[in-house]
Amino acid sequence: MSAVLPVLATRLSAAAAAAFGSSYADVDPELRSATKPEFGHYQSNLALRLGNALSQSPRDVAARLVAAMRLDDLCAPPTIAGPGFINLTLLPSTLAKAVNEPQSFTSNGQRVVVDYSQPNVAKQMHVGHLRSTVIGDALCNVLNHVGYEVIRQNHVGDWGTQYGMMIEQLLEEGLTAESLDLVGLQHLYERSRKHFDADGTFADLSRGRVVLLQSGDPETRAIWRHMVDVSLDDFERVYALLGSALTRSDVVGESAYNDDLPRVVAELEQQGLLTESEGAMCAFLPGFLGRDGSPLPVIVRKSDGGFGYSATDLAAVRHRVSTLHANRIVYVVDHRQALHFDQIFTLARTAGWLPTTVPAEHVSFGTVLGPNGRPFKTRAGGTVKLVELLDSAVARADALLAGREGVDRAATARAVGIGAVKYADLSSDRGNDYVFDLDRMVAMTGNTGPYLQYAHARLTRLLGKAGTTGGEVTELQEPAEQRLALLLTGFASTVNQVAETLQPHKLCTYLYELASALSVFYEQCPVLSSAGATRASRIALCTATRHVLQDGLGLLGIEAPNAM
Ligand code: ARG
Repeated sequence: MSAVLPVLATRLSAAAAAAFGSSYADVDPELRSATKPEFGHYQSNLALRLGNALSQSPRDVAARLVAAMRLDDLCAPPTIAGPGFINLTLLPSTLAKAVNEPQSFTSNGQRVVVDYSQPNVAKQMHVGHLRSTVIGDALCNVLNHVGYEVIRQNHVGDWGTQYGMMIEQLLEEGLTAESLDLVGLQHLYERSRKHFDADGTFADLSRGRVVLLQSGDPETRAIWRHMVDVSLDDFERVYALLGSALTRSDVVGESAYNDDLPRVVAELEQQGLLTESEGAMCAFLPGFLGRDGSPLPVIVRKSDGGFGYSATDLAAVRHRVSTLHANRIVYVVDHRQALHFDQIFTLARTAGWLPTTVPAEHVSFGTVLGPNGRPFKTRAGGTVKLVELLDSAVARADALLAGREGVDRAATARAVGIGAVKYADLSSDRGNDYVFDLDRMVAMTGNTGPYLQYAHARLTRLLGKAGTTGGEVTELQEPAEQRLALLLTGFASTVNQVAETLQPHKLCTYLYELASALSVFYEQCPVLSSAGATRASRIALCTATRHVLQDGLGLLGIEAPNAM
């Protein structure tokens, strides 16, 4: 939709400059959606703020602003309310034009790297990886939509001491790597872990095996490669079920940085940023203190000479800036790693690898909780397998569709079940924990995925019956039509806001408001049974709404079936 809001904002700033001098030309007009329909469509607090700054009564300031405003081509005459709020009401013709002229984005010439999903080899994906994958996919879609070139990086956990343990265990048991599937690998990991903790000789052999792995010993590498491939195949099945955009070519795991690690540490050392502490090489950054007030290290090389998670992330930052030429870097990782990223970003900036012109953002998210309100675990206390949850969501959706006619049952159940899970994840503020409650997720009412999908399917059916989808919105007389149109004009700015704040729930809230306004519109404004220009205009309004629902769900990574 063509953007009304920026035009209004420019006009308001111009009015401020005309009334109070050119130094006010760049003032933020503080334009917000009106909180109640009787306040019109938009409201500005500008007069209150300027009144303060100018030591004048805000109502007088508002009067002078209104007198200086040139808005009659777009709005009804502005009104002043309360202590000096300025209320703006768009003309129906302005709204109609905004709906009829969809706003498109063009390339912004910026490249954003998004690090997300990041499951670990030899372990099945769990609900935490679900969050990262779902949020990451949505953010990639949104960033791409507003004009970024998006580079996905699946920072798979495929490196470290545990592979030394596992390979050593495998060799000791006389197993071949080919004989193990992902579940087999997971069990091998568990056995090797126990063995490692109980047996010092085995622990030493495992450490030696890590050195062989890192230095590229062919036999060790071949076994490791097989473990990675088995795991990636499995992740790909989950991505396919989820409809995630991630592919094999997006996998740049921890192992990819192996050869860079000595150089990363050497550069930090040259810059005098490292201190030896208990045999490990550490960076102590100003301001990073532990609970007890002691300095908190970033360990870049462990006392056994091995490089850890932090060294890998430093190498990744360097790669993303200097080789991938990122203008912005986004990490979709749970909130427990906040300190880690804070340290990595700070150290990378100090070392000159991450220029201040390149923002690095940790898109942190909360925990998925089980029905008991505690972190989601199986009865036996294990992690809940993602595939099993997704399968049960699809089964629920399938039951819901029983007896519906003209519906491709299997495909729709999949779209609705997966969409329900994704929407539940995306619709609450990502910083919050949420309870994985399938009943609530698949509900057809309330702020759920199926509710929005149903709104879209119902519109599709209505437009099918109308026999035409074309035409323009011309008449917007009824408040319910105006409200719907006004919301439609806010789509682009909502998407922009998500690209800036990296908060997908804002798009969910918007779509839910849109679907709710649509149902009020249905109640108050007959479409198919109205006639002439009114009918044509309402059909056009329905078409525009359908597009926004479809595009909005698409940005969230959720399918919009035509019938359900
Ligand atoms: N694999 C890690 C985990 O499962 C997350 C990796 C996050 N990304 C990163 N660049 N460190 O906890």
